[in-house]
Amino acid sequence: MKNSKNKTYVWSFLGRLSHWMLVFSFLGCYITSFYENLLTLHIAIGITVFGMLLMKIVWGLIGPKYARWSDFSFSVDALKHYFLEKIHNRYRDINPGHNPASSWFAFLVTWIGILCCLSGFFLYGIQEAKGIFSFLNENYISKSYIFDNIHVFLVYILLLMIFAHISGVLIEQFYHKTDMVMAMVSGYKRAKGEDIKITLRTKVLGTIYIVLVLFVSFYTYYVPENIVTKSKFKEISYKEQNYDFYFECSDCHNLYPPFLLPKDSWIALMKDQHEHYDEDLELDESLVKNITSYMVTNSAENSTKESAFKFRDEIENSKEYTITKTDYWKRTHKDIPDEIFENDIVETKSNCVACHKDFEKGILADINITYPPKVAKK
Ligand code: HEC
Ligand code: HEC
Repeated sequence: MKNSKNKTYVWSFLGRLSHWMLVFSFLGCYITSFYENLLTLHIAIGITVFGMLLMKIVWGLIGPKYARWSDFSFSVDALKHYFLEKIHNRYRDINPGHNPASSWFAFLVTWIGILCCLSGFFLYGIQEAKGIFSFLNENYISKSYIFDNIHVFLVYILLLMIFAHISGVLIEQFYHKTDMVMAMVSGYKRAKGEDIKITLRTKVLGTIYIVLVLFVSFYTYYVPENIVTKSKFKEISYKEQNYDFYFECSDCHNLYPPFLLPKDSWIALMKDQHEHYDEDLELDESLVKNITSYMVTNSAENSTKESAFKFRDEIENSKEYTITKTDYWKRTHKDIPDEIFENDIVETKSNCVACHKDFEKGILADINITYPPKVAKK
């Protein structure tokens, strides 16, 4: 239908909905990324981001006219012309669909966004040993920093692009006065063109898809131990695994899981047993042998948990065994004020279980951090 009015229906309801879902889910992901214990929420919202980006690709194939990739303009000359006209002709006519700049933007943001999500899912599998990529943990834990860096780098690229996009829209809105902001709300653009028509089939498919994406996100967050968040690592009962270790080493403080320290550190700690932080552990020879051998078998070298890898890397051959003296520990806890460590609940930095609630079951995952601390020192 040719439109004589200076207004064209360009963005379908589903297109607008997915645009705003993308905006808010990206924002949600960004905010939750600053809180280790919100990692599951971060992943759940990330699934919506990923889902909406995938939708953009498919929508560009089956969706209404202006959302189609074939309607986009990727010519470099057109891009040049677009910016020249922007400067020389304040009240120029605008394109009903994507202009050359927004075409490039949509294309790049979609693919960079998808790469960003994928790097995140890989990172989750490798570093946390969770989700469908948890099988990668074993072989790639030493390379997890690569995915970490890629993930963060892509986020900052996206943030820059989003900044440019919002600036562009605001320039349209207030300088060119094209009322661009409202287009993504009402669906109408102040441009001459053909109104979009969207078939019932496309509408139904799009709606089912969006509902499905939301379902997976909610499922991920609310159903414990599901396929998306399930950890490869199980809780460990040290009491059952080695009673001597459990009994002798949890009397004065929380039990330190053997995977936290390299074997040389454990051997050194046991060698120093008569001068264990001003205490004499007074363990007889057979106990020392049994406990040492248990700790060596389960030391950081034999674990692919993130913390095992990080402590091992940090301590190297120094035989250091005071965990709270390592730079890695200090770095990860630098934002926690001394008052917290000294308060009645925590009392000492060594009381890990105050904030890492499943510490004595060998679980140090980000989402198991209770901060501010809740568990009283035993
Ligand atoms: C008699 C009491 C006592 C027993 C038993 C004991 N420890 Fe300790 N341990 C301490 C004290 C005191 C500290 C100093 C930190 C603190 O204030 O809790 C400490 C610190 C540690 C630390 C360093 C914690 C940090 O701050 O990084 C490790 C590791 C540790 N002990 C391991 C063990 C192991 C393994 C055993 C069993 C073989 C054991 N401890 C048994 C009293 C004890
Ligand atoms: C007062 C609370 C508190 C205590 C006590 C505490 N931690 Fe933590 N720990 C945290 C918080 C909060 C974080 C997350 C910091 C961040 O990255 O924002 C953290 C992070 C960590 C990490 C890094 C996790 C990751 O994925 O980056 C490790 C490993 C860790 N703690 C080990 C320990 C050990 C071992 C102890 C005991 C020696 C301990 N913590 C004592 C609060 C605590």
